[in-house]
Amino acid sequence: MMWVLLGIITVIYLTYQTFNSILPNYFLVPPRNWKDKLLKVINYNKPIYLKIGYKRSSYRRRLLLASENPSFYTNYINNKLKINPKDIQNKNKFMEETRRRDVDDPKRRILYGFYHPYANNGGGGERVLWEAVKSTLNADSKNICAIYTSNLDAEPLEILNKVENKFHIKGMDHSRIVFIYLRKFNKLIDSSYWKHFTIIGQLIGQILSSLEACFELSPDVWVDTMGLPGSYFIASIVLKIPIIAYVHYPILQEDMFNKLKYNKLSDIWKLKNVIDLKNYIKFIYWSILYYIYVYLGSYVDLTLANGTWTFNHMKKIWIYNQPLGKHITTLYPPCGTENLVKEETTNKERENKLLYLAQFRPEKRHILILKEYQQFLVNNYPGIAKPTPEIPTLVFAGSCRTKDDTATLEFLQQETQLLKLTNFVEFKVDISYKEVIELLSVCKFGLNAMWNEHFGIGVVEYIARGCIPIVHASAGPYLDIVKNEDDEPKQDWHNSIGFFFKSFADPDFNPSEQLVESNENKFLLFEFNGEILEFPTLEQLLTIIFIKDKELISHARLNKMRHIGKEIVIDKFSNEIFDKQWIGYIKEIDSLEKKYRDERRGKLEKVY
Ligand SMILES: *[C@@H]1O[C@H](CO)[C@@H](O)[C@H](O)[C@H]1NC(C)=O
Repeated sequence: MMWVLLGIITVIYLTYQTFNSILPNYFLVPPRNWKDKLLKVINYNKPIYLKIGYKRSSYRRRLLLASENPSFYTNYINNKLKINPKDIQNKNKFMEETRRRDVDDPKRRILYGFYHPYANNGGGGERVLWEAVKSTLNADSKNICAIYTSNLDAEPLEILNKVENKFHIKGMDHSRIVFIYLRKFNKLIDSSYWKHFTIIGQLIGQILSSLEACFELSPDVWVDTMGLPGSYFIASIVLKIPIIAYVHYPILQEDMFNKLKYNKLSDIWKLKNVIDLKNYIKFIYWSILYYIYVYLGSYVDLTLANGTWTFNHMKKIWIYNQPLGKHITTLYPPCGTENLVKEETTNKERENKLLYLAQFRPEKRHILILKEYQQFLVNNYPGIAKPTPEIPTLVFAGSCRTKDDTATLEFLQQETQLLKLTNFVEFKVDISYKEVIELLSVCKFGLNAMWNEHFGIGVVEYIARGCIPIVHASAGPYLDIVKNEDDEPKQDWHNSIGFFFKSFADPDFNPSEQLVESNENKFLLFEFNGEILEFPTLEQLLTIIFIKDKELISHARLNKMRHIGKEIVIDKFSNEIFDKQWIGYIKEIDSLEKKYRDERRGKLEKVY
């Protein structure tokens, strides 16, 4: 018994030592004779690889931090290290630069490691990554960015060209961007590799893959822009460097427990309730995962949530960040609103149309709009067959990417006929970006009917291009986008830039609460932070603004709303504001980096 205990303690101790001091030494401290080795290669009569065994990271760090052109030390072809011929030409200066620098040395360069295995994917997450890289480079000419990627089929220039063409992110100093290609554990990060135990599997994949990343090149600051918490463990325990996490979505949240029979975490101890063993075991498994996620989050020094929805969740999940003085804030992704606002194409009077820009998918709830709109017509214009100028009409514009989308579209077209709305609804399928912009410039209003849409970039586009938003009062559109200048969380059914509605069909509509009797319009009720708020249905809303109280959408008033709306979206969602805020955070992290080196690195700091 005692031997077993002793064995376990030894294993734990050794593991701890490995992570805490052996690995850091390995990753950061070059061998004693490293200068001789460098000189030998530099003075050799033709270009040769450095023979460095397993200390690649420590060498690569020295080389690129000293180099005129750090990007040369990318490992695209293979993992071996050569010295940049330019550095060899200026060998005296170069060797001088390779020396160790003190923490406070004003000339010390700082290496930001962006761990983003799908750096070449061209989605929303990558836009954030590259805008952040650009701002980090602009924040200080001493900053260098390392991008850890698994996109082995794309060479650095190809990736950078895509960034320019797709995201229009220009003017980055390419010489300070180093790509570190990860070759070993890429499959393990991918959810499709794990048929069972996906999340645990992916976490292990992330730990291994971030170990590989640090083995190739250890950075000074860890930036996770993809939401891969397994990597925090290595960055914090081994390298002891600050961590920034840009979170788009929590990988686990308490809502997920609702699907299981035991749904509150505290239920775990109520053993006498265990009737269904399979479900109970599942519940324990999910709880363990959840707490691992909470634990990994405690390593993050700065959490940036991409919107209010994510912020509210992360604040509930990563509770251990706050007492440690680490913080969570919201940083909206760069939406390029400053460019959208500029591209004014027409000056025509806008048409009386309600535009809905959305992919044809059930959760976008086009059908809800059709039905309520039909009610609005029936109640106010009984028997009408064709629109007149004072009657607003609908435009559904969106893409059909899958078979399911096509099915949804066909269903909607059928419904339009059944409801006798063919003269009132236009469908614009898979139109070009130019046509979208044209629509945004000629329609008066922009609709959004999705329930709990986390953000809703389409709504930002409406406002930026002057379409007055008429949107469902939930999540992104309600909490982030259609907001007054004062940014109060609680809002009425209309504000200085748009209008809101709710629906009986909302999953969170509570029939027991009924309608508000006191209100002549009988609005729907909605609980928000413990307060009861009232909202019209879409049909009621249309009736109010188009029939009962037209003053609400008078020409002058809409113009004013447009004007305020544009200013607000520029202030909140432009690339410029993202850059500015990101640079602010980088400055904070910069001082934290110095502090950690002094406090957490100990002896290691002296030699490395
Ligand atoms: C945050 O990321 C999630 C997941 O990609 C996305 O659904 C949401 O729209 C994003 N929020 C913002 C404000 O962009």
